[in-house]
Amino acid sequence: MPAHVLDGNLYATQIKSEVGEEVRHMVEAGVRPGLAAVLVGENPASQTYVRSKVRACEQLGIFSELITPPESSTTEELIAVVEGLNQRDDIDGILVQLPLPANVDSKAVLLAVDPAKDVDGFHPVNVGNLSTQRPGLVPCTPAGCMEILRRANIPIEGQEAVIVGRSDIVGKPLAMLLTNANATVTICHSRTKDLPAVCRRGDILVAAIGRPGFITTEFVKPGATILDVGINHISDPADFERFFKGDEKREKQFAEKGSTIIGDCDPRVVRIAGAVTPVPGGVGKLTIAMLMSNTVKAARLRRGQSLAPAAEAQPAKPKSTKAKNNAE
Ligand code: GUN
Repeated sequence: MPAHVLDGNLYATQIKSEVGEEVRHMVEAGVRPGLAAVLVGENPASQTYVRSKVRACEQLGIFSELITPPESSTTEELIAVVEGLNQRDDIDGILVQLPLPANVDSKAVLLAVDPAKDVDGFHPVNVGNLSTQRPGLVPCTPAGCMEILRRANIPIEGQEAVIVGRSDIVGKPLAMLLTNANATVTICHSRTKDLPAVCRRGDILVAAIGRPGFITTEFVKPGATILDVGINHISDPADFERFFKGDEKREKQFAEKGSTIIGDCDPRVVRIAGAVTPVPGGVGKLTIAMLMSNTVKAARLRRGQSLAPAAEAQPAKPKSTKAKNNAE
């Protein structure tokens, strides 16, 4: 029987609806959460992502501001932009879209973000909070992976979770989240010996390497849950044939556009797995939903509020309340 498809669109809609409800309560109490997106230069993929993030803010009633420094910006200039946003009381979340231009010291720019406004969860303070199980802001894609598992009632405790990919944005924080949820976690990478055998241990297998269709059926334990984090574009007809031959919908799309999107998994993994996130329509959909959720979380944390559900939310304290980044 083919794997159950974990519907990222459905879960993202649910989360956005919950966050929108929370925003309404906050606005009634006199606080509108605000997100600033810093998009440096003219990378078309980044432009598309940031546009989607701004649109999601508009849908949910979150204030958003897009700042677009030129490609020629220096590290110092970008740090000054971030520091200006740190000072603004109407901005709860700051997102610096990556990658930054090659001449910019990305780590220095990310370090300048106030940890209380770090809705990407990339600041070392938030990385430390996550690794030591303190409340804080968690990177959006790993947080989205956890939401999928939770909402699909997939057990985590005591399960073997294998993550392929050790990036700071996905692999490492997801390993922390799964460990904190009592999974037994293995992180694999390009130097891992006998990768298929290690992956076959996974009751939960996460593909986050950025290589189209890399995870094939021989990597999959029968019945495993696969979270495919990859978003890769393929335009080579030979690659297309290898992965999608006989898939009429994809063939039509490829004929029209000359390219298609594929995750890090070969589509045939559905024959072995128990549940799989599709690409597109899987993990990627949750990333923006979790960004919205983090923005609201940051707005509440900065005002010293607990993260009680919206219906129980306390009225907002005055805006002068000192910022906090370690309360939940
Ligand atoms: N570029 C690719 N993914 C991300 C992300 O999650 N956040 C930011 N800021 N930039 C990215």
